[in-house]
Amino acid sequence: MTEVKLGLQGVVIAESQICSVDGVGGKLMYYGFDIHDLAANSTFEEVVFLLWNGRLPKREELEALQKDLVDHRTVAPEVMDLLKEFPRDQHPMEALRTLVSALSLYDPDAEDMSVEANRRKATRLTAQIGTLVAALGRVREGKEPVAPDPTLNHAANFLYMLRDRAPDPEEARSVDVALILHADHSFNASTFAARVTASTLSDMHSAITSAIATLKGPLHGGANEQVMRMLLEIGSVDKAEPYALRLLEQKRIVMGFGHRVYHTEDPRATVLRKMSENLGKRAGKTAWFEMSRKIEQLMIREKNINANVDFYSASAYYVLGIPVDLYTPVFAMSRMSGWTAHVMEQYANNKLIRPLAEYTGPKNLTYVPVDKR
Ligand code: COA
Repeated sequence: MTEVKLGLQGVVIAESQICSVDGVGGKLMYYGFDIHDLAANSTFEEVVFLLWNGRLPKREELEALQKDLVDHRTVAPEVMDLLKEFPRDQHPMEALRTLVSALSLYDPDAEDMSVEANRRKATRLTAQIGTLVAALGRVREGKEPVAPDPTLNHAANFLYMLRDRAPDPEEARSVDVALILHADHSFNASTFAARVTASTLSDMHSAITSAIATLKGPLHGGANEQVMRMLLEIGSVDKAEPYALRLLEQKRIVMGFGHRVYHTEDPRATVLRKMSENLGKRAGKTAWFEMSRKIEQLMIREKNINANVDFYSASAYYVLGIPVDLYTPVFAMSRMSGWTAHVMEQYANNKLIRPLAEYTGPKNLTYVPVDKR
């Protein structure tokens, strides 16, 4: 009998140059650059260039990409109208999945599979998703969407469009760093979904729609929202440990912990822990960070399981005033850069992705007419 690798665990299915994850050493690199170096020194726009070109941009290249992203932030009015028609109590990830899919209907390159057209689509998708997420956050509260501000970078403009006020530099930089940290993560589930779709030579919008649908699940990008719901339910620092301990006793999963690849600390969590602490102190709202820290210490002590990217991003986003159900859409906003990079890499050296399954169902049955069953 063939060995079955449930969940494709440990299976290497392709070569990729974009991102390397060292699950034992706890290292993450985009095209050879350590995530800590990028988080400390680069911007989201630089990382987008890196993911799409395999190298850091020269100044004029960076300025050209920044301009391109700014120029493409405005979403087709038909898609904005669609957004306004959606039921207001639906989850924003449902809406985002539908809206990104709808963007293709108004994209001049929708069916053009040339390298240049795919790059243009990647630029539009990366620029426009921020506008969609911010508008989703406002419209369901009965507010008008805010038009993008061309003087602001991707991160600052997102906060501006969401809250209708320019963020201060530390808020803007925190979101910028969060976007850098979430931009890519090799063959994670949503990226794999995008690549499977792209491998059939379906178009980029279709591949990205698959990715968003996959990111939505609580075992993947949906975890950051669940972490915050847990912290809100806990409510105070003294209740954090007993709450998490109860979950473990009941053999339940604690959201924001564990990882298929990392067997040590997720290097993104290291940066986000500090960010959550700093933002909390600055806002005089340290309880969310302190609760998180207690849960983390308990998880390491009791189970030797570390926090992942979704754990500290939750408390950081909360202090920034990002609505809880927008956490996963914000993840998507960043990961769009990585998804599109992977789709382009897939097209460049395509092979249909089509694994096998070990059949364990019944065999050799004979058809029985419906009235004789
Ligand atoms: N809380 C409690 N126990 C956990 C856990 C968590 N968050 N994550 C893993 N474990 C335990 C499992 O119960 C299992 O224990 P067992 O061997 O005694 O049965 C063991 O650790 C291995 O976990 P498993 O679910 O088999 O690993 P996986 O690679 O299939 O799953 C995740 C990885 C990410 C799906 C899993 O860790 C998880 O569900 N985490 C919570 C959701 C989350 O934060 N997702 C975002 C990932 S970035």
